[in-house]
Amino acid sequence: MRTEDFERALLEKKEVVDRILMRFLPEETGLQGRAAAAMNYSLLAGGKRLRPILMQETYRMCGGTDSPVVEHFMAAIEMIHTYSLVHDDLPAMDNDEQRRGKETTWHKYGETMGILAGDGLLNYAFETAAGGFFCCSPAPEEKLVWMERTAEALSLLARKAGIYGMIGGQAVDVMAEKNQEDTELCARTLTREQLLFIHEHKTGALIEASMMVGAILAGAAREQVTALEKCARNMGVAFQIQDDILDVVGNEAELGKPTGSDAQNQKQTYVTLHGLDQARADVESLSREAAAVLDGFEGEKDFLKQLIFSLVDRRK
Ligand code: IPE
Ligand code: IPE
Ligand code: MG
Ligand code: MG
Ligand code: MG
Repeated sequence: MRTEDFERALLEKKEVVDRILMRFLPEETGLQGRAAAAMNYSLLAGGKRLRPILMQETYRMCGGTDSPVVEHFMAAIEMIHTYSLVHDDLPAMDNDEQRRGKETTWHKYGETMGILAGDGLLNYAFETAAGGFFCCSPAPEEKLVWMERTAEALSLLARKAGIYGMIGGQAVDVMAEKNQEDTELCARTLTREQLLFIHEHKTGALIEASMMVGAILAGAAREQVTALEKCARNMGVAFQIQDDILDVVGNEAELGKPTGSDAQNQKQTYVTLHGLDQARADVESLSREAAAVLDGFEGEKDFLKQLIFSLVDRRK
């Protein structure tokens, strides 16, 4: 696909995600309306919508046909991702005031509401995903299959978001900050394995969930789901290395979030460990490895491959 055509297709897919999200927003009414407003503020602040797009494209590549169930999971993964950002920006974590070109949620609504909006988004994500069980009435002979796929997808989503996934990575990430005084990791330079653990978990896990849930809902074979986990892991690590690079050399206006945040927090990142040149080279080779996995799939994969390569030199 020519670059202009790819970019137009990407924008259209992002708009599809935005329309899906609009259908699932919590209502800003009742005594708790302000917390719902903070949730919606974070969700609608923009963002690339990478994870739901990946989920939908993987679902299609694996032969998934139009079904509202995948839309419930697309909304859910973006809610979980957004909550992870809302909490990541809190003063107790990265202490950032700008996100997606706007004030961070805690900065606009106060720290307490920032915490609660994040908690709200996480729970609402699972309520939304579980809605996949009730959103359609498949033919009786297909009902059990859909129930099983939805249950498996839900369980995987929970695991990848949790202590063995994103939260686990975020925990090690903050423990490894040089300005933390109470952890073992902060006292020494991280090993490459430890840094990869952080990147694979804090960022890779939700990207893995996106592709694996798409594949599971489409009824992909076990080996295919495992192959996609590997593809997404490489992609996720490349994505976080590029994020670390942009924190050093990016443009704040374009990024929509501050640069220099990692240095300010004395974070050990891929760039502090390996330098910019090595970091750039590794983004490219990991992306090539990720794209190569897709060659083993028969379905339409060109858009996904182009998406992976487009992230190599992303500027936001
Ligand atoms: C930012 O994710 C946090 C990381 C995992 C690096 P994105 O770069 O996907 O953020 P949005 O959704 O586009 O704002
Ligand atoms: C965050 O990593 C990953 C999450 C799970 C939220 P960063 O802290 O580097 O993400 P940004 O740079 O704030 O988006
Ligand atoms: Mg962080
Ligand atoms: Mg951060
Ligand atoms: Mg960052």
